[in-house]
Amino acid sequence: MIKVENLCKSFKTKKKYPGFKGAIKSFFSKEYIIKKAVDDISFNIKDGEIVGYIGANGAGKSTTIKMMTGIMTPSSGSVIVDGIIPYENREKNAKDIGVVFGQRTQLWWDLPLSETFSLLKDIYEVSDKDYEERMSFFYETLELKDFLLSPVRTLSLGQRMRADLAAALIHNPKIIYLDEPTIGLDVVVKENVRKAIKRINEIYGTTIILTTHDLNDIEELCKRIIIIDNGKKLYDGSLEDIKNKYGYMTTLEIQIKKQFDLSKINLNKILKLNTEDLNFIKEDMKLVVNFNKNKVSSSDIMFHIMKEHRVIDFLVKETSVEDIIKRIYRNEV
Ligand SMILES: Nc1ncnc2c1ncn2[C@@H]1O[C@H](COP(=O)(O)OP(=O)(O)OP(=O)(O)O)[C@@H](O)[C@H]1O
Ligand SMILES: [Mg+2]
Repeated sequence: MIKVENLCKSFKTKKKYPGFKGAIKSFFSKEYIIKKAVDDISFNIKDGEIVGYIGANGAGKSTTIKMMTGIMTPSSGSVIVDGIIPYENREKNAKDIGVVFGQRTQLWWDLPLSETFSLLKDIYEVSDKDYEERMSFFYETLELKDFLLSPVRTLSLGQRMRADLAAALIHNPKIIYLDEPTIGLDVVVKENVRKAIKRINEIYGTTIILTTHDLNDIEELCKRIIIIDNGKKLYDGSLEDIKNKYGYMTTLEIQIKKQFDLSKINLNKILKLNTEDLNFIKEDMKLVVNFNKNKVSSSDIMFHIMKEHRVIDFLVKETSVEDIIKRIYRNEV
């Protein structure tokens, strides 16, 4: 269905010099920097897959999505979506895809949502029957009813995102591209958006490509993930494998009242764990514990530490996508 081959995109930007004088110098300068935003990326995506496309800020995710959706033309390499080259055949491609950029809306600012939807119905030539069916699905899964008559500019972020999602799906596209669909949403709305995405995939067999910084999005939606860093593909495979390898390491930060001696902490021996699954770092009065949560619980660790030390405070840090990427990078998958 989707075939990306040796895809590259470079941006040419003026060299920037620091400070006020630098700004003037930059303005007149003819020196350019070439930034390889996407650097030789290849992958295939099958019909009906949900793929998480992840990476740190500036990794090149949005740039890839823009080329896949036809908004941007590659510097070299190619994208073929369902036999069409999106950036050469934008109109034809647009009929089969839906796009949501979480950072900005595609909706008409001043129109009530209901009118936006009927406009899109006409643009995409959706039949009355299909339109009815889809709208009732959206009413139910995305709970649009409450704000259907409000102009888009008055919607809250969560409402707007749900509206954007519905708008991208009105023509029942074969593929949807979601660039950070849960950014800035509260936990409850995030959960609703995820549920809707999941159901759309189940009911319509829609292929979904999703970028996010939220590991929970990935966890709930994607079996397969592609990780990119600095424009290059770092990993393509199952989420399960990655998690088994890297995701189960968790960090516990413990504030201890008195100075302590790191060499006297012998929990590895007590709990019979090697340093790969349990290790300690000292930062001033803070004890930082990295541990494999499959093998030991934070309460076990706390229990042993508290036997020997006065603990003032502690904090368990969730693993983020960025943490996993950093780990993969260090271990060079
Ligand atoms: N139009 C542009 N002109 C110049 N540089 C650009 C342009 N678009 C993107 N870049 C640069 O390309 C790199 C990749 O950007 P991109 O937006 O694809 O990252 P991203 O992975 O989506 O990051 P984020 O998680 O922050 O959204 C960045 O260094 C960015 O500054
Ligand atoms: Mg982006």
